[in-house]
Amino acid sequence: MKKFTALLLAMLMVFALCACGGNSDDPVPSEAVDYSTWTLDELKAELKTVTDGKLTVATSPDFAPYEFYAIDENENPVLAGFDIALAGYIAEKLGLELEIIPMDFDGTISELGAKKVDIALAGYSPDPDRESLMNFSAIYYSGGQSFVCTKATADKFTDLASANNPDYIIGAQTGSIQADLAEENTPDADVILMAKVTDILADMLAGKMDGAFMETAVAETYALNYPDLQILCEVPYDQEGSVAGVNKDNAILLAAINLIINEALEDGTMAAFVADANEAASGNIYEGLLED
Ligand code: ARG
Repeated sequence: MKKFTALLLAMLMVFALCACGGNSDDPVPSEAVDYSTWTLDELKAELKTVTDGKLTVATSPDFAPYEFYAIDENENPVLAGFDIALAGYIAEKLGLELEIIPMDFDGTISELGAKKVDIALAGYSPDPDRESLMNFSAIYYSGGQSFVCTKATADKFTDLASANNPDYIIGAQTGSIQADLAEENTPDADVILMAKVTDILADMLAGKMDGAFMETAVAETYALNYPDLQILCEVPYDQEGSVAGVNKDNAILLAAINLIINEALEDGTMAAFVADANEAASGNIYEGLLED
């Protein structure tokens, strides 16, 4: 009887072990492929996008010189800026038709997070809080952050700390790192978040807002068009530089975009896009014509 019980126990144990290890038919999770060693042609051969044959790009054209509306020779607003030029360049290199979808900035993040677009080119900072929603490309542009005001409000402030005052209305764009900077640096002020940077500018220039957090290159560009705008000081931020946001399902597209960006940085293409955008943005910014 003892022998029988021992045998039964042994059989049960073997059975239990088999049951535990019984997943052997399931696919073994494959090691993530390292696409960074692939050539552009190899990547293109395997590339899939949200819509076949197209590169779908979200952008938020309130952000000269990155993306904005310029006026063409027929007085029509057309998308311009170095993000737009880079989008066209990437699409061309990938042999895809370009579709750019303009929307508010926080929309670019949610559309990318919902995998409805392939990439977003909207002057993204590589904010770690966004990493669950998108992959970041290589950095294609270096910029910084500023606190801005107008000539009329400038003497209210001596430095950034002086802006942290409940008497002041301070603006930042919804969903942006500038909103975080406002939260960190001016928590006691009346911080107003707005969907468009150009709406913040309009309110500031109309005397409805005392100051705002803004990307330095953007503030410098709008100051060319609206000389009342004044950059008060730089604001420290530790994730400098701009990246493309890439659909998290698409590691092949990420690798291809990194190859294209690195080449554009090396051969001067990116510098030319920036120079062209700066020139185009130094007047006639449609979204920047702030009257509504
Ligand atoms: N760099 C900032 C961020 O990533 C602001 C970007 C805003 N872009 C725009 N097109 N309005 O949050």
